[in-house]
Amino acid sequence: MKDPISRRHFLETASLAGAGLTLALPQLGGSARGADAVAGKPAKLGGKPVCSGGWPGWPVYGEPEEQSLLGTLKSGHWYRGTGKAVSGFEAAYEKLTGAKHCLATASGTAALSTALGALDVGPGDEVIIPPYTFVATYNVVVLNYALPVFVDSDLESFQIDADKIDAAVTKNTRVIMPVHLGGYPADLDKILEVASKHQVTVVEDACQAHLAEWRGRKVGTWGMAGCFSFQASKNLNSGEGGAVLTNDDQFAETCYNFHNQGRARQVSGYNFSYSGTRGSNLRLCEFQGGLLTAQMTRVIEQSNRRHENALYLTKLLGEIPGIKPAKLHPHATRSAYHLYMFRYDPAQFAGLSRAKFLAALSAEGVPASSGYGVMNKDAYVSALAKNKHFLKLYGEKRLKEWLDRNQNLPENDKLCEQAVWLTQTITLAEREKMDQIAEAIRKIRRYAAELAKA
Ligand SMILES: Cc1ncc(COP(=O)(O)O)c(C=O)c1O
Repeated sequence: MKDPISRRHFLETASLAGAGLTLALPQLGGSARGADAVAGKPAKLGGKPVCSGGWPGWPVYGEPEEQSLLGTLKSGHWYRGTGKAVSGFEAAYEKLTGAKHCLATASGTAALSTALGALDVGPGDEVIIPPYTFVATYNVVVLNYALPVFVDSDLESFQIDADKIDAAVTKNTRVIMPVHLGGYPADLDKILEVASKHQVTVVEDACQAHLAEWRGRKVGTWGMAGCFSFQASKNLNSGEGGAVLTNDDQFAETCYNFHNQGRARQVSGYNFSYSGTRGSNLRLCEFQGGLLTAQMTRVIEQSNRRHENALYLTKLLGEIPGIKPAKLHPHATRSAYHLYMFRYDPAQFAGLSRAKFLAALSAEGVPASSGYGVMNKDAYVSALAKNKHFLKLYGEKRLKEWLDRNQNLPENDKLCEQAVWLTQTITLAEREKMDQIAEAIRKIRRYAAELAKA
């Protein structure tokens, strides 16, 4: 790998050198073409893109996956009841995370549903969630006819503002469900403190946070439950899949039973005993269990690579006026970097809108997105106040208050306006690609006024 520092120095010097650059080119050999692109205009204005050659593909697979899938196929054991692949994965994930119990589920949504089902969350209960999250966090609450209560975001960290949770707790609050958004840990110290004060349960939505750590211990192992997703885009992937982690023996069994139609582990034949009053089929199948174990042969190396690249990128981007990388809490000892997130300030880019910034970045060969919309104000969410079942359960007045409250999460509004995301495959790339991302942004900034007019 090329020395990133000297390359970066060259890129900066080259971009400033302007016409003098041509003279320097013969000495620079292989970098000459890159220098030309850097010296030129943004790709959106007809220049050469800074990044070429694409980004790492996803999913990554090879021999271990092929052997596992064929092995399961030929075994004839495709269902967890008769096979060993799902239970093998559960044991491996327990070891990786340090959790006492892991229960594999059909998806991250199924993991959250299992946790809420095992806690018997239902009509009349309130569940505290952040508005800045994937809609599944909201859906699992509503599907149980419980009321999702949004707590505003913290602009700096992109996470739920833990200081505002206490004020949102009522006598109906059953669960606080923080999300480790993008894989960056939410403030678990404060969340657990508030939960303990009010004796409510914490379910961590760690669907994006594989191998992330709080105070050196894996996220997903701090609350009563930690829920993960293994959907295709996730850092650990079986197409679809999920898991609930817990350190509580009784809760682990209740989760197992819930995800298995209320049936306890099979003793023999059709000899099931039932527990609880509700259940579903939320099981993972053997092909996926085996696939996950195979994918885990790479997960630590991939996580290390993202971690190192993200820290380096944060250093580079932090030096660019108008770019503010999402802050990791001091006790967040590791992020999963499922997303690399930063805030963009058009005022520092000659008024260039975020949409135009994203288009210019994409033209430079860096795919990026604006992330989530304002979920708490979305028509999908607002319509809940008119849902006949919710009206029957909560009444018009309470739902009107709920609706009004959802309009007033000002920090989240700002976050949704300013956020920019890079996906986890970007930080899987080589170190020099991080330099290129920073250079692409610097280039856009230099030409921001022209880009704004284009
Ligand atoms: C924060 C969060 N929660 C829940 C989920 C749901 O996971 P799944 O898609 O596996 O059902 C996701 C998936 O993207 C997520 O990002």
